[in-house]
Amino acid sequence: MGTDVEGWALGDQVVARTNPTAGGAFAEYALVPKEFLAKAPSTLPFNEAAGIPTAAGTAWQALFESFELTEGQKVLIHAGTGGVGSFAIQLAHRVAAKVIATASGSGLDIIRLLGADMGIDYRREDFTRQLSDIDVVLDTLGGETQQRSFDVLRTGGHLLSTVMPPDDTLAAAHNVTAGFVFHASDGQRLARVSKAIDQYGLRILVDRTVPFTEFIPAFRHQASGRAQGKIIIIFD
Ligand SMILES: NC(=O)c1ccc[n+]([C@@H]2O[C@H](COP(=O)([O-])OP(=O)(O)OC[C@H]3O[C@@H](n4cnc5c(N)ncnc54)[C@H](OP(=O)(O)O)[C@@H]3O)[C@@H](O)[C@H]2O)c1
Repeated sequence: MGTDVEGWALGDQVVARTNPTAGGAFAEYALVPKEFLAKAPSTLPFNEAAGIPTAAGTAWQALFESFELTEGQKVLIHAGTGGVGSFAIQLAHRVAAKVIATASGSGLDIIRLLGADMGIDYRREDFTRQLSDIDVVLDTLGGETQQRSFDVLRTGGHLLSTVMPPDDTLAAAHNVTAGFVFHASDGQRLARVSKAIDQYGLRILVDRTVPFTEFIPAFRHQASGRAQGKIIIIFD
């Protein structure tokens, strides 16, 4: 611990999102600025807490900082079984928003358990035919899904994407606003996330937990776009 670091003690259980451009999180030891640190939630297994910072931090930043999601608003969350989506559902549910999420197969049961009021099977149903007057869409898929999402927003609604900057011309044509969310590591936000997890019993959706030696197949699975939640890498 650095000599100018206050408020922390050796042995504290912490979570942090390292600088994404510098990397270094897949390691036994990581150097983290104190501004990025937060206490790990006490209600989750410590290993699983490693899955929180990027996914939950991004969901929080999108819903409560880029947008100000409040009670009664209708939010459409794409890929509700993804890392970001699974936290976004829980956080939106906690503020009593009306939560609609897309998923497929067994994922539909999962998103309901996480707090979605309505699930849409994206493999069988066209969300644009089922939805309208949505206040905010959280797009975690980009491409055609992002473009079609403009159709379901109410006038003055907002589209947030974690994947690619939305088309401003398309947004203007639909009388809505849109923006790209780029996660900025922030220990204070992460502390709010950690507190919410403990206070409301939020859970982390874990696709699998693997030793570091199985890192490559685990990442191939993540890159396939089929992971249900986070992949936890264990260092013995
Ligand atoms: N901008 C930032 O700062 C930031 C931060 C974090 C993440 N991201 C990005 O956000 C994206 C999402 O990442 P993530 O880790 O949350 O998710 P992810 O793990 O990539 O999502 C996988 C899940 O998406 C579901 N899915 C795939 N295609 C779908 C579709 N067309 N409709 C609905 N669900 C679908 C899959 O379910 P099925 O198997 O049932 O299809 C699977 O459970 C990634 O591109 C990531 O790089 C950006």
